[in-house]
Amino acid sequence: MDNRGNFSGRIGFILAAAGSAVGLGNIWRFPYLAGENGGAIFLLVYLCCIFLLCYPVMVGEIAIGRAANRDAFGSYSKLGGKNWGYLGLFGILAGIMILSFYNVVAGWAFGYFLHISFGDLLNHENFGNFFGEYVNDIIDVSSINGLANSNLIFSLVFMALTAIIVSLGIQKGIEASTKIMMPALYLILIGIIIYSLTLPNAIEGVKFYLIPDLGELKIQTVVDGLKQAFFSLSLGMGALITYGSYLSKKENITSSAAVISMADTSVAFFAGLMVFPLVHFLAYKLEINAQEIGTSGPPLIFVVLPQIFHEMGPLLGRFIGGSFFLLVCFAALTSTISLLEVPVAYLVDQKKMNRKYVVWMVALLIFICGLPSMVSMGMIPALNKLTFYRGQDFLTFIADMSDITLTIGGCLMTIFISRRWGIHNMDAELALGNETYMQSGVRRFLHITIRWVAPILLGFLSIVIILEKFFGIANLI
Ligand code: PFF
Repeated sequence: MDNRGNFSGRIGFILAAAGSAVGLGNIWRFPYLAGENGGAIFLLVYLCCIFLLCYPVMVGEIAIGRAANRDAFGSYSKLGGKNWGYLGLFGILAGIMILSFYNVVAGWAFGYFLHISFGDLLNHENFGNFFGEYVNDIIDVSSINGLANSNLIFSLVFMALTAIIVSLGIQKGIEASTKIMMPALYLILIGIIIYSLTLPNAIEGVKFYLIPDLGELKIQTVVDGLKQAFFSLSLGMGALITYGSYLSKKENITSSAAVISMADTSVAFFAGLMVFPLVHFLAYKLEINAQEIGTSGPPLIFVVLPQIFHEMGPLLGRFIGGSFFLLVCFAALTSTISLLEVPVAYLVDQKKMNRKYVVWMVALLIFICGLPSMVSMGMIPALNKLTFYRGQDFLTFIADMSDITLTIGGCLMTIFISRRWGIHNMDAELALGNETYMQSGVRRFLHITIRWVAPILLGFLSIVIILEKFFGIANLI
């Protein structure tokens, strides 16, 4: 297992893991979930989920990977026996499933970046219609201002970028690219927030986002907060086991995980701080109530935001809109590379295959697995309205299934630590690089969460999500 590659140090690891965590989940999903769930109260619930539940799970995952120094399958089988290895395989399959649909959405964002920066997307009259046509027609090579309007090509290019980075290895590929993309992402985000706060009516958006209304607290808020926190931190499928396996024994896992959680949470928080003032600015411009602007689901960033960029005028809109979608692409790319690394590490470690060859094979395979999601936005009616899934489209189905697999994977991982590997072994791993760990309060907190809180809560959450997705939670409560 020598020469598997490793991160050069703490900063490289933290940036790569934070890059995995920061993604479409933060910029695309967090703001609309917050919008649907009462804004500030959702933020509050989300923060509690991150620090009380997700942080310990993250520490556990990294500890498993570093202790075993193997891919997800290899780590579980080395520390717990072959049967536990299947839990690693389950995670690897979950990663493949996530990347298949994630790359489709990333491709849309990449296309929007090109069309806004270099094309005439912002001149459209009706952004809802444009988005509908754009996601529907995947092989339209007719051009808008010289740019092929094909999200098949965009997502293929996005997958190829992911593969190029992963094929360069841990330090030269993953670490080097995240060291550029993560700071750039923060800079763009902060820049757009500063600008959006200067717009008329922005302060109403800030109020909606930051002043909690406890009356809005519902079971749905907690369920959405928990599953979003889990997805956002890339937990439950072995991405952090894999990244942890490239981490030196000298590094402090508990403090690194705290920084990663904070970096991820801050981007989600900032994304909300960017989006809500913009939405309230649009409400002001259109002289309507902000609640009337549909901010739920994918249309938030693909329909509502372009309309806002349009309102900013041709030059500024192009600049701010282009920067925004570049930011989304960076966020997505630092996540897709971590998703691709999981199956790649498995094949390199277990099957002793050549890294470069494996990367391109797996990337192509996952791209093909993503085609049903891509054509499910209207092109193939049967996939657009799944009869067994309450008439929803295939992409939504796969995205929802990933929520379920992540929470099940996380639940079983905590059971693995306390009932199989042994919590004392986790302690021994965490004490490396952290002399004070054994006497610390963090250790007691991790024990309680990993032994009791996480398995119970995550098991419960998995059941609730299954019931919610297949039967509709409104019918249950
Ligand atoms: N955390 C990513 C996001 O918020 O977009 C999604 C993700 C990446 C989930 C990597 C799981 C993973 F392993």
